[in-house]
Amino acid sequence: MSEPSDEHSGPNAPSDTPGVTRRRAIAGIGAAAALAAGRVLAPAPLFASTPAWRADLVPPAAPGQARMLGVPFEKHAAVRLAVIGTGLRGRSVLREFLAVEGVQVTALADIVPDKAARAVKLVTDAGQPAPAVFTNGERDFERLLARTDIDFVYIATPWEWHTPMAVAAMRAGKHVGVEVPAAFTLEDCWQLVDTSEATRRHCLMMENVCYGYNELLVLNMVRAGAFGELKHAEAAYIHDLRAILFEDRDEGLWRRTPHLSRDGNLYPTHGLGPVAQYLGIHRGDRFDYMVSMSSPELSLTAYRNTHYPAGSPKHAEQYRCGDMNTSLIKTVQGRTIMLQHDVVSPRPYDRLNMISGTKGAFRDYPARLYLEGMPGGEKWNPIDSVKAQYEHPLWTNVGELARTLGGHGGMDFIMCYRTIQCLREGLAPDFDVYDAAAWSAPGPLSEASVASGSQPARFPDFTRGSWAGTTSTG
Ligand SMILES: NC(=O)c1ccc[n+]([C@@H]2O[C@H](COP(=O)([O-])OP(=O)(O)OC[C@H]3O[C@@H](n4cnc5c(N)ncnc54)[C@H](O)[C@@H]3O)[C@@H](O)[C@H]2O)c1
Repeated sequence: MSEPSDEHSGPNAPSDTPGVTRRRAIAGIGAAAALAAGRVLAPAPLFASTPAWRADLVPPAAPGQARMLGVPFEKHAAVRLAVIGTGLRGRSVLREFLAVEGVQVTALADIVPDKAARAVKLVTDAGQPAPAVFTNGERDFERLLARTDIDFVYIATPWEWHTPMAVAAMRAGKHVGVEVPAAFTLEDCWQLVDTSEATRRHCLMMENVCYGYNELLVLNMVRAGAFGELKHAEAAYIHDLRAILFEDRDEGLWRRTPHLSRDGNLYPTHGLGPVAQYLGIHRGDRFDYMVSMSSPELSLTAYRNTHYPAGSPKHAEQYRCGDMNTSLIKTVQGRTIMLQHDVVSPRPYDRLNMISGTKGAFRDYPARLYLEGMPGGEKWNPIDSVKAQYEHPLWTNVGELARTLGGHGGMDFIMCYRTIQCLREGLAPDFDVYDAAAWSAPGPLSEASVASGSQPARFPDFTRGSWAGTTSTG
């Protein structure tokens, strides 16, 4: 790959630098000796000064570079859509986009011609002309981006391509929707922010979970003050992907690889995105710092050993990512978020999706609610009683079609519908490049914290100070 993301070098490299751990070990011995001698120790500095911890440094913006917070799209009579990456996710979301009125699919790219051909068929089956197709190698998407008949590019490629493709799309004058996570280094996060601001093109991370039925219901309740003042949230991506990770096709071709080199939260955004919206992140609050720790790696090794004979090349692989990664995020307003990642354990699917305020709490999987004063005392209740009052208008208006199409229970269609609505009506998007960067940042920050024995790692202020001054639009 000619433009790989630089996850193994640079200031945010996952550091298992012996120096860091040795220093902490020595500090620990010193502390024990001091305690034994009855001496009082000066508190250790909260943020160490090694390069991995300099994430709080905000690079200067180019002169005149304005923020993209709350910036509306220009109006589009119809939205000319291109898709890069027509694998499982690309084709699935393409199907949802094709069901939205006012979408014209003009171009597709994939390195595998058969996958592009399957996507072309989806377009022509929907009654649209065959789009232009780009299948001539891993940089052929650049020819797609050079076209002038594209308003919005949706990117559904393997992770390492997300940032370079999104940046190239914005530089080519297109708004872009990129799959999750948008980036996995802090440098890439900044590149997205700076490119979006410089080109005045939006970069949305297509976090479909923000459009789930329960997530939008809870968001409505939060905005109506039903939970009072929010103070704590919990979010997770707990999904047993072992069989998928080991397949010799689709995601199995690339998604196991990060488990060999990284130890932290590889996929933070499905849980974190909705919770960030509840908490009004970048709309009055922002993530300040996080600490993270990982359990041992056991499950991928065990699965490989059980399912593949000793001669399999997979036996040369050494997995590094701890099975369960748990992080705690502190916001500038003092709120806390617990964030977890586990894609290798035999346990039921869970995103936690929990919010707690001064007047009540919600917890998902299964959905349950407690509002102060509810009859029956201190116990969870079903959410049915609040649906009539708080169901989000998007679900009331197009929920039936969303459920019929069925992508992730309907949230995929709601996401596509809402994206196109914003583009056609000239609205500001529900989330923007700052959200893409901040929701992706726990990837590298968790790695840095894990590598240093769970020291706190600061979130950059991707808004460069503008996080307090905007209100939510969605
Ligand atoms: N939001 C969600 O619910 C959700 C669900 C599944 C996957 N995803 C994300 O979607 C993305 C794609 O996942 P997937 O399941 O479709 O994987 P996949 O392997 O099925 O598809 C990836 C596609 O990208 C193509 N590709 C690779 N390099 C390319 C290049 N340089 N140019 C053009 N095409 C290229 C591959 O040939 C393949 O068709 C990932 O980022 C994944 O995390 C999101």
